[in-house]
Amino acid sequence: MSQGYDEQIARAVALLRAGELVAFPTETVYGLGADASNPLAVAKIFAAKGRPADHPLIVHLASAGAMKRWARELPAAAEKLAATFWPGPLTMILKRAPGVLDQVTGCQDTVGLRVPNHPLALALLAEFAGADHGGLAAPSANRFGRISPTSADHVRHELGDAVAMVLDGGPCAVGIESTIVDLSRGGAVLLRPGAIAAAELAQVLGSEVEAGGADTADRPRVSGSLAAHYAPATPLQLVPAAALSDALAAARGRGLRVAVLARSAPPDSGGRLWHQASAAVAGYAHDLYAKLRELDAIGADLILVESVPDDAAWLAVADRLRRAAQGTVAQDET
Ligand code: TXA
Ligand code: MG
Repeated sequence: MSQGYDEQIARAVALLRAGELVAFPTETVYGLGADASNPLAVAKIFAAKGRPADHPLIVHLASAGAMKRWARELPAAAEKLAATFWPGPLTMILKRAPGVLDQVTGCQDTVGLRVPNHPLALALLAEFAGADHGGLAAPSANRFGRISPTSADHVRHELGDAVAMVLDGGPCAVGIESTIVDLSRGGAVLLRPGAIAAAELAQVLGSEVEAGGADTADRPRVSGSLAAHYAPATPLQLVPAAALSDALAAARGRGLRVAVLARSAPPDSGGRLWHQASAAVAGYAHDLYAKLRELDAIGADLILVESVPDDAAWLAVADRLRRAAQGTVAQDET
């Protein structure tokens, strides 16, 4: 019989205090959590994920009140964004406080902070935090470069025994990773698009949010912004809607078994390898990683994904699809 909610949280906190890894649900994707103040525990994250050690981790906090323990400067912009969007799918990059571990920041002078909006995560964080505002370093709970998990089963499948406990909070509501905004260098720079759009941030800040990302930096500050990421093992190609039927016919003509993810309805020849995606962006994002996993498991030779609309609302989804397509070509990042 499964344990009650309180017992599960208590067990998770005990494991975290003992330096073990606990995967937990957030509204975006599942996180692989470790005590952010324990270097040995944080090292286990990199081992479990197979992630390069210079890639920084987001510290998850119980509330915005804990920010000052982790960031040495709190610009007005950070306070405003926290008040508006936390708990929620927004990560802020701030100048790190003394004592924040190099293993967490990737030896950078900044730290990523987020208060996630999921009842189980918030209960876990509140119980874990204690008087000194402890936080959980938690990347997405997948192997490096692969698809982020949006259910507890995905995590178990991906990481198996490498994680001491998986808290099951059901499927993630948002489905893609948080928006990341860098506030550490004056102004606001968007490092990773997510469910909260740059325009929403700009509106609250009353000033522009610059487009940024790892391409402009001298090091991989945001591993999720490397070109190849979030990738299934099966080759994946993005195809404009108008070219989809032809691309499908051509690939089948070459003898390939082709799976399709499309917002449009299947043609007669669609068959069971045609996966219907939601027409609306929130539904599409919610289902995206689970669908990519399903499509990957079919054993097809090729996954064709119909391109999504080229507008601001679809920016984060389009970003993840582009990286999934590149990731299956350049597997060196996994
Ligand atoms: O929605 C999310 O953000 C999920 C859930 C679990 O919270 N987490 C997540 O973590 O996506 P991860 O590690 O897979 O991606 C976080 C990104 C990484 O690409 C990392 O490079 C970037 O955040 N990041 C963390 N700290 C940073 C820093 N100090 N400066 C720049 N980028 C940072
Ligand atoms: Mg990740």
